[in-house]
Amino acid sequence: MKVITLHGTHVVTGPGSLEYLKQIECSRAMVITGGKSMFASGVIDKVQSFLQRDGSEILVYPGISKNPTKEQVLKALEAANRFQPDLFVAVGGGSPIDAAKAVMLFYEHPELNFDNVTRVELPQAKGRTRLIAIPSTSGTASEVTHVTVITYPEKNLKVAFRTEIIRPDIAILDGNLTLTLPKQIVAETGMDALTHALECYVNKTGDTFTDALAKSAVEGIVRWLPVSYETGSIESRQKMHDYQCMAGMAFSNAGLGMVHGVSHAFGGMFNLAHGLANAVILPYSMVYNRKDAFVAERYRILSDALGSSVIEVVEKLGQKLRIPRCFAEYGIEEDRFLQSYDALVENSMLGATAANPIKVPVGDMKKFVRCVYYGTQVDF
Ligand SMILES: [Fe+2]
Repeated sequence: MKVITLHGTHVVTGPGSLEYLKQIECSRAMVITGGKSMFASGVIDKVQSFLQRDGSEILVYPGISKNPTKEQVLKALEAANRFQPDLFVAVGGGSPIDAAKAVMLFYEHPELNFDNVTRVELPQAKGRTRLIAIPSTSGTASEVTHVTVITYPEKNLKVAFRTEIIRPDIAILDGNLTLTLPKQIVAETGMDALTHALECYVNKTGDTFTDALAKSAVEGIVRWLPVSYETGSIESRQKMHDYQCMAGMAFSNAGLGMVHGVSHAFGGMFNLAHGLANAVILPYSMVYNRKDAFVAERYRILSDALGSSVIEVVEKLGQKLRIPRCFAEYGIEEDRFLQSYDALVENSMLGATAANPIKVPVGDMKKFVRCVYYGTQVDF
């Protein structure tokens, strides 16, 4: 028996779908967002005006950065406890959405905190507060998942919490919000989405539903990500917004794999953008995992659908999107890498690595971490 949750309550999609907020009833809405871009593009003004009702109050809480930290969440939580919202609205990339999820979890459950959240079994029942997630990037699919990833700076580590409480009630996929994205962000976030779809499709806990979503997402992202990167057309941006969401629906039911485990280790250590780290690691993981018969068969099915070896397709897409071939090429100095090497290996064994389709022994991980840094071939 398996419970499949394809999304929260609603997915609203299409250019202009931000206006769906006009239908939302709330009395106190806390809007959690990132830096300047959502203000500069007028999105926050629109969110405020679409939500405004007679007698309602809206608190805009900006400043959530890339890789949101414990401290940022705690500050936002203080603001939430003072304001007492009945609705959270997260607007921006995966970071404000992840931060809003963690804030909502602690707001709903004051007995939880950063010291115990990874050690106790998290409650699953939905609370009194709703969460609307409005992504402005096309990658994390945080708007439909029950996962949030928060950085613990003192441990140089990113930690994921999972509970149904934080799966957003409504996801609004308005491609218009992605029109001003810089090319580099389109590339990195798009490769994050491709990683979700590919890791999910070879994960052995998948099923008929997740297979269909993940395979379609791989095909759709391979087709539309280069168009979105080159042209920025609304059609391509909306397609990417939808396909990344499908990948999220799939992976939040079937799980991911070693790319995300290793990526969180490198990302936490060197403050790398999540999508960039995944994009670098993804082709190496595909070579490593293809020795498994199930994975090899899955890659064969994808290669048939794409008309060319899926590993080559991923490598060429990375080149087209100017993704560095390895972390040395990206610019992480060798001294820093070598100093951090033991911790990188240890942290790479955590998280989603446990869900990899083949078990990764520490000896292999020691070699793998060197491959993704130096750009050497995976031949083990
Ligand atoms: Fe991801």
